[in-house]
Amino acid sequence: MIKPFIAANWKMNKTVGEAVDFANSLRAVLTTTPDRDVVIAPPFTALHAVAASLKGSDIALAAQNMHDAEKGAFTGEISAAMLIDAGCAYVIIGHSERRHIFGEEDEFINKKIISALKHGLKPIFCIGETLEERESGITLDILQRQIGEGLNNISTDDIGSVVVAYEPVWAIGTGKTATPKEAEDAHKFIRACIQMFYDAAVAEKVVIIYGGSVTPDNIGELMAEKDVNGALVGGASLNSESFAKIVNYP
Ligand code: PGA
Repeated sequence: MIKPFIAANWKMNKTVGEAVDFANSLRAVLTTTPDRDVVIAPPFTALHAVAASLKGSDIALAAQNMHDAEKGAFTGEISAAMLIDAGCAYVIIGHSERRHIFGEEDEFINKKIISALKHGLKPIFCIGETLEERESGITLDILQRQIGEGLNNISTDDIGSVVVAYEPVWAIGTGKTATPKEAEDAHKFIRACIQMFYDAAVAEKVVIIYGGSVTPDNIGELMAEKDVNGALVGGASLNSESFAKIVNYP
């Protein structure tokens, strides 16, 4: 049985003060979360301060992106070592906004995952099809390509540290959630791909979370699906009460 994994992706929202207030109120509401993994991903500027607020709690910190290089002339970029230094345990890699707005491709995403793992950061590796791809009937081909290329050269030992987030692009920030069946079909396929690229024992344990317009109202039905192990929440994670309701789904 995989422990439910619920992560908040704040995207480009919240000042340091707002982020710390959120972390403090979330801690107050979620006094213990022994049966759930809870992660929050503030913007870079708030990571260090939020890490201090979360000290001693079970809530883990994630960054929203990183660069694969160790250091050097990459103006505006942040390395895995810097994220560890700021208190992160996780990093979101390959989010659809990075792929579609900033042109990140599978090969670059793969390099970032390798660098994150090398530094002991756990990647939350995002994949998902666009509406056009779904309507053309190529969803599974897209997912298989993103998994194959994104996880290229990642060992069986390391794959256990990767969380896969299935986020259909058409469901992100649109209020249009995948139905539980659509989510389950995709998650089952992702697990089958992991089994094909690795083995059954690895596939059984890999954490596969769903993202795309998750709310306190739909989390329960999504989590009732066998292969849905958690959620990556954008809009509904910006308010601590709403996010706490998602974490505490029945
Ligand atoms: P959303 O975003 O919950 O606002 O749809 C999810 C995500 O982009 O991770």
